[in-house]
Amino acid sequence: MRDAEFRFDTYPEILDALRHPDLSRSLDKRSFAEGNPRAGILSLLHGDEHKMRRRMENALFQRQALVRYERDLFPGVLSEVLDRGEAGRTDLFELAGALSVVLAARRTGIDHDGTAEQLAELFGYVTVIAQAAAIFDVVGDRDRVQRETIEVLERFDERYVRPSRRHRERILDAIAAGEPDREAPHDLLTMALRRLRAEDDTFADHGLLVREAGLFLHGGSHTSAQTVCNVFYHLFGLPDDQQRSWLRRVADDLLAAQQCVHETVRLRPPNPELRRLAELDAEVAGVPIRQGSRIVLDIRTANRDPALFGARPGAFDPDREIADGIPLWGLSFGVGAHICIGRSVAGGLPLTGRTLRAGVPAAHLYGLVALMVQAIAARGVAPDAERPPELDRRTTRGTRWLRFPVLLPGGAPARMSP
Ligand code: HEM
Repeated sequence: MRDAEFRFDTYPEILDALRHPDLSRSLDKRSFAEGNPRAGILSLLHGDEHKMRRRMENALFQRQALVRYERDLFPGVLSEVLDRGEAGRTDLFELAGALSVVLAARRTGIDHDGTAEQLAELFGYVTVIAQAAAIFDVVGDRDRVQRETIEVLERFDERYVRPSRRHRERILDAIAAGEPDREAPHDLLTMALRRLRAEDDTFADHGLLVREAGLFLHGGSHTSAQTVCNVFYHLFGLPDDQQRSWLRRVADDLLAAQQCVHETVRLRPPNPELRRLAELDAEVAGVPIRQGSRIVLDIRTANRDPALFGARPGAFDPDREIADGIPLWGLSFGVGAHICIGRSVAGGLPLTGRTLRAGVPAAHLYGLVALMVQAIAARGVAPDAERPPELDRRTTRGTRWLRFPVLLPGGAPARMSP
């Protein structure tokens, strides 16, 4: 038996670790009162408690809702923003953040007035929460990051969660009183309030509901916005002729946009190292691991396995041939109990060797990131030669951007419908 820290970096080892019932994501077991801004949220729960919360929240990600986001709601949001904007310089991270946060807020149940100011404010909260979500990769003062996140959650609660909660309480009261034509929204807040009325006390602690809403807002927008930047980082890095032809293909063909998104998350996962804690003595990929040990799963390396992803696994090649049954996005959305709950929202349905050869069926979903990438490419996005993108070095992840200036003839956002 060894203890301390273990690293795994091959595909099969990581699959084994992610499916292991005794490895948890609960690396920080402190309560909120002890300074943990993420205490009790879905992604930190383990075992039966996680299973129950996950089952409840999966209801917000059913196919019907995904189809509605992708086919009915998001195209309108995209054209409203991009068609109306003025031509010129813009920051792709802010733009993709504002676009993603519209639907993330809707799914969470956060009301806003649709102005660029409020969307920027919400996405500003997201960028702080994102630091706390990456706490083990933060460079520098982690306590300060956690204190800032608690302050942001307080502001988020006061300005958005409480008013949105009151609004939903009124809707539920009206429905209970039999008022005709009242329909409850399909979102996290409404779901939590309905359960409270049915004497399920999961979210009896309002503070926990605020933290869960923060997780939903952040999970639903930050990684998506970072991935839009990462896609264009790859496309702009291609030789000129390939760059032109890929930008044209992406603008014309949503499947090509989706292939670029999946190839990008494979190579530049927003979270390149997943972490686990051994809750009990365990064996992972044949290695005995003592209770209390920490495990680091290097998915960036595993996603470059030539047996699965072809001879030049580190090259950006969205048309690459991959093994049957392996998703082009590799392990970047996780696997097992904690597999990304929003993967179909962001990435659509997986593309495997088989689906890429056979062609996707009519029921296929492309994901909101591909929709953003396509719309931005169709408006003639180009690198801003005077202002290079700036990596976010506040964490060691290396796949996050602080700023991603581009030239966008279609322009920047002014106001979006909630
Ligand atoms: C490109 C986009 C995205 C990527 C690459 C991504 C990646 C991931 C990964 C790797 C995990 C699992 C982490 C682990 O096992 O340690 C995860 C979990 C999670 N993701 Fe995503 N994600 C993305 C988009 C989204 C979206 C759009 C949402 C919400 C709508 C979301 C919400 C969540 C939540 C709530 C969890 C925790 C699930 C649980 O613990 O049961 N993510 N994500």
